[in-house]
Amino acid sequence: MSAPSAGSPVPSPTETAVVEWERKPKSIDANLKDYDAVAKTFDWKTVEREFDWSKTGKVNLVHEAVDRHAVSSRGTKVALYYTDFERRSEEYTFQDFKKLTSRVAHVLKQLGVKKGDRVGTFLPRTPELYITILGIHRVGAIPVPLFEAFMEQAVEDRLSDSEAVLCVTSPALKSRIPRAKLPALKILLLVGASGTLESGEASYEQLIAKAPDWVEPEWLTVDDGLVIHYTSGSTGKSKGALHRQYAMVGHYQTAKWALDLRDDDVYWCTADPGWVTGTSYGIYGPWTLGITSVVIGGRFDPERWFETIQRYKVTMWYSAPTAYRMLMSAGETIPKKYDLKSLRHICSVGEPLNPEALKWIKKITGLAPHETWWMTETGMQLICNYRSYDFPIGCTGKPFPGTYATVVDDQGKEVAPGVLGNLVVKPGWPSMMKEIWRNAAKYQEYFRIPGWYASGDSAFKDERGYIWYQGRADDVIKTAGERVGPFEVESALVAHPAVAEAGVIGKPDAVRGQIIKAFVALRKGRQPSDQLKKEIADFVKTNLAAHAAPREIDFVEKVPKTRSGKIMRRVLRAWDQGLPVGDISTMEE
Ligand code: WTA
Repeated sequence: MSAPSAGSPVPSPTETAVVEWERKPKSIDANLKDYDAVAKTFDWKTVEREFDWSKTGKVNLVHEAVDRHAVSSRGTKVALYYTDFERRSEEYTFQDFKKLTSRVAHVLKQLGVKKGDRVGTFLPRTPELYITILGIHRVGAIPVPLFEAFMEQAVEDRLSDSEAVLCVTSPALKSRIPRAKLPALKILLLVGASGTLESGEASYEQLIAKAPDWVEPEWLTVDDGLVIHYTSGSTGKSKGALHRQYAMVGHYQTAKWALDLRDDDVYWCTADPGWVTGTSYGIYGPWTLGITSVVIGGRFDPERWFETIQRYKVTMWYSAPTAYRMLMSAGETIPKKYDLKSLRHICSVGEPLNPEALKWIKKITGLAPHETWWMTETGMQLICNYRSYDFPIGCTGKPFPGTYATVVDDQGKEVAPGVLGNLVVKPGWPSMMKEIWRNAAKYQEYFRIPGWYASGDSAFKDERGYIWYQGRADDVIKTAGERVGPFEVESALVAHPAVAEAGVIGKPDAVRGQIIKAFVALRKGRQPSDQLKKEIADFVKTNLAAHAAPREIDFVEKVPKTRSGKIMRRVLRAWDQGLPVGDISTMEE
């Protein structure tokens, strides 16, 4: 989407069309009953009281998410149902979690991990991944969760920047960890290793078998680190958003009011913990509330997804627009084979959910997915549609009680209803990132609009106060919900021997939201061909990550740049759409 300029009016749906409403019956029994009333008076201090640390002063996420449930009436409640549909179908209670995360904590300590250390997790979505992340919390260290799909460059960037001292991984994935380039990384803890270990390696199974069932959590303060999630911006390599332990206050309350979780729910968050959604709402929110969660392993598969809902009688489902659209494109005969009546609430995150997909999900489940808008940096949901609250279909929602998101011009002044501007948030919500890991300058960039946290999104507000997301105002790409920085892809492209220059944009796509499109200028003597396109795309796939590889490549003579050498993605977008390029007088030559 082209960069909208702040201050331009957009036709408000409330003016131009009859808005379709998602109306809620008065009888809905939601945790948040009266949004308007609560939003006026809500105080986060009341949520702090829900945590043991508010009385003891001793803070650790693992205590609030596991230990306190394990010794309560929830002890034998299932915390996690897991299946990969092939080899494994398992369940773990909160008591099991207490034991297993203690064992992992013991092993980590044995291997020298200390409070505040960063520990990478580079594992497929399995129970061990969840147990490991919680075990890392138990020793007061900071998990750095990586996607299983990452290839060597992506892994190196993140483990190197965070100076992780240990990485929990698998024999299949370890070859993508370039140990020679990672001096801080002392040990690989391998899940599922068989046969002999190499130097600097340890076996997860062997060590936890000998570990004790109880390790007291390392006690922290609310300001100590919780997790680092690497994410992309429009410039530079990925950056590490560090969150603090206090963020659990935000996770807990949003899981209660936006996800509407309650004690008897079976909750399925489809996100991987490599993405912030998979920790904030795959671990912290649900488990601080003591909720039963479902996790499935393996690749996306429509049959298995609907089967998951039927098999576990999932009541609350949290997923992303691309997934909803992929289910839609697989057709209606699949969901018709399954019993989906257990569902009572659905939410969506990561990109805007188009009304067509919303309506399709509603048709097959009887429930409209509710938007939740937030970012890796915000740590928690900030703009949502609520279960008991009417909303116009297609809107992003209203600020979460106790937070304030709005739309401003470039000077920070709120714009009138219906005027496009910068989507910003008043700083100080509970799970706002603490810092960009060791990069104060990058952190400051988020506060470039005086008085506000700048999301980088553009939006408008309507007369009723609903916020409507309108796209990114910068060059960040969202493809299938994944946030990809064009610079990372361009860097991977120019490492290919045939590529002289590369510029990357997000191209609108009906299913994936955007796809990655690259414009590539070849080195002298290299001839364009379809074969070469494939070779270049594969090169990015094997070095960075499959989701970051361009799905389309155009060969060009030159990549358009400003005099200072910045790639003019505006021009690339115009080329892609076959539109006039406008003023290119600032281009080189
Ligand atoms: C986009 C972590 C529209 C937005 C959750 C934001 C959304 C970026 C929504 C953050 C939504 C997220 N509607 N757009 N409900 N939720 N976004 O850090 O552009 O991977 O700035 O998301 O995703 O991406 P991130």
